[in-house]
Amino acid sequence: MSLMDVRIYPDPVLRKPAREIETYDRALESFIRDLWETMLAFDGVGLAATQVGRDLRICVISWKEHRLILVNPRIVHSEGEQVGDEGCLSFPGIFEKIRRPQKVRVEAVDAEGKPFSVDADGFLARALCHEIDHLDGRLMIDHLSPLKREIIRKKLLKRSREERTNP
Ligand code: NI
Repeated sequence: MSLMDVRIYPDPVLRKPAREIETYDRALESFIRDLWETMLAFDGVGLAATQVGRDLRICVISWKEHRLILVNPRIVHSEGEQVGDEGCLSFPGIFEKIRRPQKVRVEAVDAEGKPFSVDADGFLARALCHEIDHLDGRLMIDHLSPLKREIIRKKLLKRSREERTNP
């Protein structure tokens, strides 16, 4: 098991769309285990492979009793609307109100390639939309106004400069 580095915005790797998984092997299993442990170590609700710099369509979610490993996930149905606070391990310290569907149905396969689907409502629906967005290189700030996006970009750039000066 090894923890991976979570990339912080505006790292360009976060914009790279992930590719579909076609091979289900030991390497994939071990990557998923590392992704899961990294999410837990950083106290995240979810983590997508693109956030650790890998262009693989895989994300994980751990929220309340829900433990989801989603390979090649896609939203096949969405309905309604909700607005609520959202954060992201790639945007440390940033929480913003984001509009998302109230309910979604997601189809995915597990680490062995076996298909399943999830019907989610409320916060779980939000988390699924957020993580699946990551796999397409879409980020939570894309749902905000250009002005807000710019403020957040500057804040995180300043933070990374400060970290480089005082490691
Ligand atoms: Ni995120």
